[in-house]
This record gives sequence, structure tokens and C-alpha cells, in this order.
Amino acid sequence: MINMEINGTEYQFENEMTILEAARQHDIKIPTLCYNEYLEPYGGCRICLVELVGKAQLIPACASKIAEGMKIETDSERVWKSRKFVLELLLARTPDSEEIKALADEFGIPHREESRLDPVGQYLLYRAPKREFTNCVLCNLCVRVCQEIPQRSALSVVGRGVGRKVQPPFGKAADACIGCQSCAYVCPTNTVTVREVG
Ligand code: SF4
Ligand code: FES
Repeated sequence: MINMEINGTEYQFENEMTILEAARQHDIKIPTLCYNEYLEPYGGCRICLVELVGKAQLIPACASKIAEGMKIETDSERVWKSRKFVLELLLARTPDSEEIKALADEFGIPHREESRLDPVGQYLLYRAPKREFTNCVLCNLCVRVCQEIPQRSALSVVGRGVGRKVQPPFGKAADACIGCQSCAYVCPTNTVTVREVG
């Protein structure tokens, strides 16, 4: 039996699991983007960061296991600030994504009014130089599902910095693709779409 606290309430868990799974068992909401229960933890998007009381760094709930005596805060000021920053970066990258806007609304990020944002948020969402936008949040789910389920590598992340993107090898239809559509199924922003060719 593992005894721990989440947001000041004591819980007991019989099995080893992640903080995210433990929180979900008790309807405690933690946002996720790069997490999928059928895939290996990745811990890349950082939107699920929570506070482990007594530790300086926030930790990813999707990739951290519960432990005896652990005290977790999922809704503290530090967590909110980190979540807000991650969502502001995502909104700056994907301003047309209804899914990311809905997530920001659900977790109380005031992105719809410039005057309610702090200077960093105002810059990221309203003043940063415009470029070609995408709805891809680079969660890597499409790449990982392809590797882990059909065990193919029909997609990969290429490029650097703001130019990073997901594409098939050399930007052409991949021979490795078996048309299973799992990439479209897992994409949290509906960026991957499927069309038949030939
Ligand atoms: S295309 Fe979708 S699943 Fe793939 S990295 Fe982008 S947001 Fe994630
Ligand atoms: S959902 Fe945990 S790091 Fe992405």
C-alpha cells in the first residue's frame, strides 16, 4: 500500500502508478498533451507539471511514479504559472488550434484579452513576429505511436527551433506507412489527417 497526499488530502494506492494515473483515479484534473495511456511515457510537453512538496523543480505527472509519503500539489501558484507559460508558448505557436484554446480556457489562462496577460504573455500572443502557423504542438504522439504500435517509422520530427516539424522521411510518402491511421487517431490537435491516394 502506498500512502500519499494530493492537494492536502490523503490517499492510499495498492499498486505502483504514475502521479497522473493516481490523480485521475480521484477526478483530480491535470492537463496533458503528449501523454497516451497505451504508449511509453515521454514527458515532453511539460503541461502536466506538478509540485512535489519539498523539491525545487516541478515534475511531470505523466512520467513520475507515486511513492510512500509523497505530497503533491496540482493546483498551486507555481503549477499555475508553469502551466500558463507552457500554454502561452503553445498558443503563440498554434493560434488557430481550437483544442489548445479550449485547454487554456479550461485551466483559466486569460489568453483572449491582451490586457489580462502579463508582459511575457502579451508579447508571446500579441506582439511576437508572425510566421507560418501550424496546429502541431510537437507532442510526438504520432511519431511514437507509429514506432510503438505497428513498429514502423513512417514519421519523424525534423528541423530545429521554431522550424521543427513532423513529416515522413524526406517529406515524401513513406514506404513504411501501412495506412493504420494510428497517427491521426492520437493527434490531440487534429493536425494529422488521412487521405487515400492511388
Ligand atoms: S502532428 Fe499531432 S500528434 Fe504529431 S506531433 Fe503534431 S500535434 Fe502531436
Ligand atoms: S503530458 Fe506530461 S509531459 Fe506531456
